[in-house]
Amino acid sequence: MPQVRPFATDRLPDLLRCMPKAELHIHIEGSLEPELIFALAQRNGVQIPYASVEELRSAYAFSNLQSFLDIYYAGASVLLKEQDFYDMARAYLLKAAQDNVLHAELFFDPQTHTARGVSMATVINGLHRACVDAKAELGISAALILCFLRHLSEEEAFETLEQALPFRDKFIGVGLDSGEVGNPPEKFARVFARCRALGLHLVAHAGEEGPPAYVWTALDLLKVERIDHGVQSSKDAALMQRLAQDRIPLTVCPLSNLKLCVFPDLASHNLRQLLDGGLVATLNSDDPAYFGGYLNENFTQTFAATGLSSQHAYTLARNSFEASFIEDAAKRRYIDRLNETFEAFQ
Ligand code: ADE
Ligand code: ZN
Repeated sequence: MPQVRPFATDRLPDLLRCMPKAELHIHIEGSLEPELIFALAQRNGVQIPYASVEELRSAYAFSNLQSFLDIYYAGASVLLKEQDFYDMARAYLLKAAQDNVLHAELFFDPQTHTARGVSMATVINGLHRACVDAKAELGISAALILCFLRHLSEEEAFETLEQALPFRDKFIGVGLDSGEVGNPPEKFARVFARCRALGLHLVAHAGEEGPPAYVWTALDLLKVERIDHGVQSSKDAALMQRLAQDRIPLTVCPLSNLKLCVFPDLASHNLRQLLDGGLVATLNSDDPAYFGGYLNENFTQTFAATGLSSQHAYTLARNSFEASFIEDAAKRRYIDRLNETFEAFQ
């Protein structure tokens, strides 16, 4: 890892914004801005229980994960047609391009849509077309990761997988999201084993609100390649050692953790502790329309609050490429571009 010379801290926000990076933890339904929710509600004749964009935005005051999920699933109810899914992903990818994101791996929650009668084809084709166009028109590579909702049963996850398999070439992996506490990873051991046999990449949310034990079982029973969030791991020294030794990436989302009250303020966030512990931490936005910021906002606010350095910035950006599921040659090209940006800043 090259040593990055420290420089005047007033140049750090510029560097954070312009450095090339990957985003590995973004729920595409969490990028639905209130304006787009209202536009889609009108286009599709869907009633939403808010009178205006402002009223909806003012409901975004959360006390924990579940209080957010209730509003997040209600917001997604305006998505009905393939074009709606395309428009949502397109809007996110345009914002990501502005943040100098070169590669994005997008989570989507098909069960939120199929439960309302929207077909798997509608969901995946719309999102996938946006990913293809982003490569051609914005120069961003983007890929899809299908998430199972952990508050539902494993049987329902199996049914969802079966519905998605005709589109196997349009998603690269599976994840596990929704309410964590009370829905441990082991509930999904069989469906993850099947996904593994199919050659899908595996990730899971663990240690967001849930205990370190959930991170252990995500690793040992689900055999995931990355942990989403994982911030509770710092409560367990043996787990920290395991994550560092096996170079298991964590996709950390500071503004999400702040808005869902996982930490009382950004200054108390443990990102520095994770990095200093030798973990492959990355920085991500989670649900940017709900948590007050896309990726660059996560970088600038977190660095301002915690005093992280230009060396940390390099490590986080490099980790984002190393932890991604892109092929090695593309990884190397992206890291070369990162190195060029840092050399130009020295
Ligand atoms: N779905 C969308 N955002 C989520 C989060 N932060 N945790 C769990 N499930 C989610
Ligand atoms: Zn998430």
